[in-house]
Amino acid sequence: MSARPDVLVGFMGAGKSTVGRRLAELKAVSFIDVDRELERRTARSIPDLFGDGEEAFRELEEAVVIELVMSGEHGVIALGGGALTRPGTRRVLAARARVLWLDAPAAVLWGRVEADGGAGKRPLAVNLHRFSDLQHQRAGLYATAADAIIDASAPVEVAAIACRDSSVVRAGALTRIPETVGDRRVFMVIDAPLADRTPDLGPRLLLPGGEQVKDMATLERLWRAFAEVELERRDVIVAVGGGAVTDVAGFAAATFRRGLDWVSCPTTLVGQVDAGIGGKTGIDVAAKNDVGAFHAPLAVLADPTLLDTLSAREWRCGFVEALKSGLLQGDALWDLVRRWPSERGSEDDRFALVRRCAALKGRVVAADPREAGERAMLNLGHSIGHGVEHASGGRYLHGEAIAIGLVAALGLSVEFAGLDVGIADEVLGVLTRLGLPTIADEVDPDAVLAAMRSDKKRSAGRTRFVLLESPGHPRWGVELDDAAVTAAVRAACPR
Ligand SMILES: NC(=O)c1ccc[n+]([C@@H]2O[C@H](COP(=O)([O-])OP(=O)(O)OC[C@H]3O[C@@H](n4cnc5c(N)ncnc54)[C@H](O)[C@@H]3O)[C@@H](O)[C@H]2O)c1
Ligand SMILES: [Zn+2]
Repeated sequence: MSARPDVLVGFMGAGKSTVGRRLAELKAVSFIDVDRELERRTARSIPDLFGDGEEAFRELEEAVVIELVMSGEHGVIALGGGALTRPGTRRVLAARARVLWLDAPAAVLWGRVEADGGAGKRPLAVNLHRFSDLQHQRAGLYATAADAIIDASAPVEVAAIACRDSSVVRAGALTRIPETVGDRRVFMVIDAPLADRTPDLGPRLLLPGGEQVKDMATLERLWRAFAEVELERRDVIVAVGGGAVTDVAGFAAATFRRGLDWVSCPTTLVGQVDAGIGGKTGIDVAAKNDVGAFHAPLAVLADPTLLDTLSAREWRCGFVEALKSGLLQGDALWDLVRRWPSERGSEDDRFALVRRCAALKGRVVAADPREAGERAMLNLGHSIGHGVEHASGGRYLHGEAIAIGLVAALGLSVEFAGLDVGIADEVLGVLTRLGLPTIADEVDPDAVLAAMRSDKKRSAGRTRFVLLESPGHPRWGVELDDAAVTAAVRAACPR
């Protein structure tokens, strides 16, 4: 089976050709831009061709897109903004391409289009109002066709890396395992609840799932199982499961025979929005996640329909991480989470949630793979949240403790980063609506502070906080004085 080309779609100004060209360089494959190809073949400009009528233009464009995708000659293809209006184009992309939607707010895209000649070069770029309306109309088409969303506001290099490493988020994503690994042998490591929903592609080991599997005994079991079937360097580990299973299987892959490739198939909401993405793998020895490796997966394949069997409590915990992502990203993701209706929302909203959270994580990891800087922003709500988690003695799951930590971090943000108190209230409202805790009423605040101090020892020095100025504008590495932190913890744990 030949690898699918990456097809970049999105609105005018998203940077499909610039990012596409850089992505092709990163992957060492060839790049083609459909608009330029149309101009070359007809020896006419796009506005001129468009002058014949949009229908005629789209017909011509469709024929070229289908030919280019089917030829298998191009690893990266950039499409015109309106190409997806044709059903034939949508069909061929679904069957034969990995579709990446480069998305950014209308104002960002309009700014770029204007700077680049505006309506003179792009017949549909008339004014910001109409531009934004058209973007809105097209969004539905992009959303249906896309395997992944890429944050197109990021610098070209970051967006290109995010494209290369992006998750495929699709119903039936696991059916893409064979084409992802080609003719290489696979070993499947599967979280028990997924046993019947995972394709049979080779030897498999079932793990019970949950934090308990992130230990040395499981790691040894995995290594021995790999040795048993004589896995070699070019073989591939496929991990299907929650964050615990992808963490331990990814680490086993990183270490066996000095590193095998692996494919991450996250099956929990936490996994699909966070844990399954970004290449951090590991186990718990003396402390949580204290032994591990950065080992980026070959691919991330996430099927949100697999979340159907997740317990309500696990779902809510995942949603807290998604809410955190919405606060960090702002824009469309913030709009999605702030309005989150009932517990699980509609299927369309769940797909959008996973794709947009994956886009944020993808952008942040692309910019800072080794957590030297901005990746730290992902810890919003986690300083006090971790303290609550440890001090609660198992009463709160991670996500629940982070809900409490988020509320505390937003309180500090109102005080020290100018966050509008209305935003903090809105977050409180969403958490309450979903039945998540917002304060820890039976946890000793001094125990939380002590847990935070011991966390701090591990990160050398003072606790550094992530604060939010407004949705989409986090500030990380912030040092706060002890009195402010103590007050925030006491407010979070009112006994
Ligand atoms: N590597 C990273 O960057 C990263 C980021 C965040 C969290 N993590 C790690 O992820 C782990 C938490 O992951 P998690 O929240 O996914 O929990 P989990 O892996 O513990 O899974 C929770 C439970 O759900 C079950 N399960 C998995 N998929 C299911 C499905 N589709 N239907 C029904 N049940 C299913 C599991 O068997 C388990 O019992 C922690 O160990 C954390 O340290 C890692
Ligand atoms: Zn977390």
